Amino acid sequence: MPEPGYFLTRCREELVGLLAARDVSINVAEVRDVEGGIDADLAVPLFRIAKERGENPQALAERLAGSLQLKGTRFASATALKGYLNLAFDRTRFAQEVIADFRRDPDRYGSAKTGAGRTIVIDYSSPNIAKPFSVGHLRSTIIGQSLHNILSFLGYQDVGDNHLGDWGAQFGKLLSAFARWGGEDELERNPTAHLLSLYVRFHDEAKSNADLELEARDWFRRLETGDERARSLWQRFVKLSTAEFGRIYDLLGVKFDSIRGESTYEDRLSGVITRALDQGVARREKPAAAMVTGSDEVGPDETVVIIPLDDAGIETPLILQKSDGTSLYATREIATAEYRVERWHPERMLYVVGKEQELYFRQFSAALARLGINVPCIHVTFGLVRLPEGRMSTRAGRVVFLEDVIAEAIRRAEAVVRDRELSPEEKTHISRIVGIGAIKYADLSQSRIKEVVFDWDRMLALDGDSAPYLQYAYTRTRSILRKAEVRSGNDKVPNPSAFILPEELTLLKSVARFPDSIVAAAESYEPHRIAGRIYRLARDFSAFYDKAPVLKAETAELREARLFLVEMTGNVLATGLALLGIEVTGRM
Ligand code: ARG
Repeated sequence: MPEPGYFLTRCREELVGLLAARDVSINVAEVRDVEGGIDADLAVPLFRIAKERGENPQALAERLAGSLQLKGTRFASATALKGYLNLAFDRTRFAQEVIADFRRDPDRYGSAKTGAGRTIVIDYSSPNIAKPFSVGHLRSTIIGQSLHNILSFLGYQDVGDNHLGDWGAQFGKLLSAFARWGGEDELERNPTAHLLSLYVRFHDEAKSNADLELEARDWFRRLETGDERARSLWQRFVKLSTAEFGRIYDLLGVKFDSIRGESTYEDRLSGVITRALDQGVARREKPAAAMVTGSDEVGPDETVVIIPLDDAGIETPLILQKSDGTSLYATREIATAEYRVERWHPERMLYVVGKEQELYFRQFSAALARLGINVPCIHVTFGLVRLPEGRMSTRAGRVVFLEDVIAEAIRRAEAVVRDRELSPEEKTHISRIVGIGAIKYADLSQSRIKEVVFDWDRMLALDGDSAPYLQYAYTRTRSILRKAEVRSGNDKVPNPSAFILPEELTLLKSVARFPDSIVAAAESYEPHRIAGRIYRLARDFSAFYDKAPVLKAETAELREARLFLVEMTGNVLATGLALLGIEVTGRM
């Protein structure tokens, strides 16, 4: 059975028939009050269609406007303007259909079954053991979780997989540093800070002591070959770090379907390398100069196993194995991809990882295809996070601890509710969801490729494009409904011809546009499409509420219709925010 879809989808389908075109794109226009006439609700650009038919776009628009049979359609009138066909809705039908769409499933308005039976693996968060959870990992976590929510809402069987960085040459450094300068008590008391300071000290001292690097390599080799001391220390680092990450995930309300460290793919690594060599995809080589791949480094005088990629237009080969036989980030990546394909049979795999790994992901995806794994791997990149203190660097020890950033957000959010008449418990709860919502929204409300700058005042502004503004708008809708004693799941159907004010129609249009924003977000992996839409909705709601009395509406019928608009607005805000991973509250 075809999906019932939503009002704008049905408009598009209807237009395909009316214009006898393959597909039709539409722009939704704002409702304007035009003297004496009906202003347009939709604009259909005719440039492509006109070109296909060898016609002038404006001439085509005029011809269509004059000849279309609109009786019985969703459109009341058509006009031609500069190559666009402008259409006005049949307003009663428009309202009636949007109301019906909403009533079908008021708490999941905008959801779809597009993804039924289709699996997508999303790799996100993926922090490194024994290092602080960075704000970069925070971005991956926030964006990945939101994409996870969005794809599930569209019916996909998506799998969120946290690929913990628990393996690699850096553990050699850490083990060597811990053996030299580590302290048991400090490790227990403050694991990440202690391990970080060891890591920093290692890099400091390695500058003047070349033996350290060799020692570290030996430790990593010991770890890879199962040396007991190396293993048991490493296991403790993993355990302590995972506990810290778990606290952060709880605070953020983030969940995964699978958490697996890079180390879990160890038993597949030699298979990956042998197969790559056997298939003639990889070869042994002495690299000309130091090569960097992903987060690993290879020195100049080693023999390595590489996958050359120059014929894919990538100069830097992907390195699979170092001369001492140890594995690399990329080797484990390929093993992981093989595992995911075997286990989940995804149609694609998303990697939510910062822009700095762009080259690496190009290498990896090209290599994977050569190895015969043809599941598309999509690098969902994002820009840096800039803190007021400047760029971060783990090696220099210039880091900001994420738990401090979160605590700061919550502390600042307390100011937002300080003067409200709420119980202390409510205040604590609200500060938490506002503070965390502010961090998430600041990230998700802009294109992911842009840098995120922590500007606390903007993030927490009650009147700007911010989480608290939207959360507060939601709260207002709930408070109006409480006063009107409307229970949720309102089963009174409002009269669709009751909406006449431009503010009512604009708000209704804003609701009608919400489902498209979810599809757009899923297609471009850009949650800001949803953020932008619900922000507009909140503004349209404000304009509506200023103009149209709800509780004191002129007639009972109007009151009911407007209350229904309030309920729709509230639900769409809550759904949109939930897709961004942001909670709402009925009182604030
Ligand atoms: N742990 C890596 C890092 O912090 C990110 C891993 C991303 N996921 C992946 N499959 N490579 O740089």
